Amino acid sequence: MIIKKVNLDIVIGVTSAIPQTELPEVAFAGKSNVGKSSLINALMNRKSYARTSSQPGKTQTINYYNINDAMFLVDLPGYGYANANQQVKAKWGKMVEKYLKVSKQLRQVFLLIDIRHDPSANDKMMYDWIVANGYHPVIIATKLDKLKRSQIPKHVKAVRTGLGLEKDDILIPVSSQTKQGIPELWETIEQYL
Ligand code: GTP
Ligand code: MG
Repeated sequence: MIIKKVNLDIVIGVTSAIPQTELPEVAFAGKSNVGKSSLINALMNRKSYARTSSQPGKTQTINYYNINDAMFLVDLPGYGYANANQQVKAKWGKMVEKYLKVSKQLRQVFLLIDIRHDPSANDKMMYDWIVANGYHPVIIATKLDKLKRSQIPKHVKAVRTGLGLEKDDILIPVSSQTKQGIPELWETIEQYL
């Protein structure tokens, strides 16, 4: 995708209804701090248009990034943010659940997993949740730059096994920092539009 124009068109908080947009959407889900907003910046070729933070819990709204007036990249709030209280956690969960259920333009859900760590119980729950809503998620293994090249196959296997992926399920390792995997991810995204 050649990025000509990006704009944060829609921001949805816990009290707002999920909008029915006019453009195809792909969404990015995953634990807080896994790198969803950083990945969206890398895809948009922008340094810090989507707000990121080393502190988990940065994105607390559903953010719709309009790409070339052709599609939306949708940044979802992260789960598993330890410092958020139960009430906040429940609200974010409900918001993401509602989004997956009602968004008619949603074409694919990408689930991000930190390549360094085995998927958590929350990651597995999210995976099952996405599947239960009728999607067959593509897995993105993030922060590839944090591993030595020789460690990568072992970690990819651990993520695949942890989530119980089948052979032909897609997993794309990426680094938002070095941009490794970003062109491949764009190719994959475009297949769903
Ligand atoms: P929430 O909004 O809290 O759900 O987090 P998020 O998933 O949007 O994570 P975010 O993009 O804010 O990134 C969290 C931290 O990880 C930041 O300090 C980023 O700089 C760092 N990070 C994200 N992607 C990469 C990457 O590919 N490589 C490295 N080394 N760090 C990364
Ligand atoms: Mg974020």
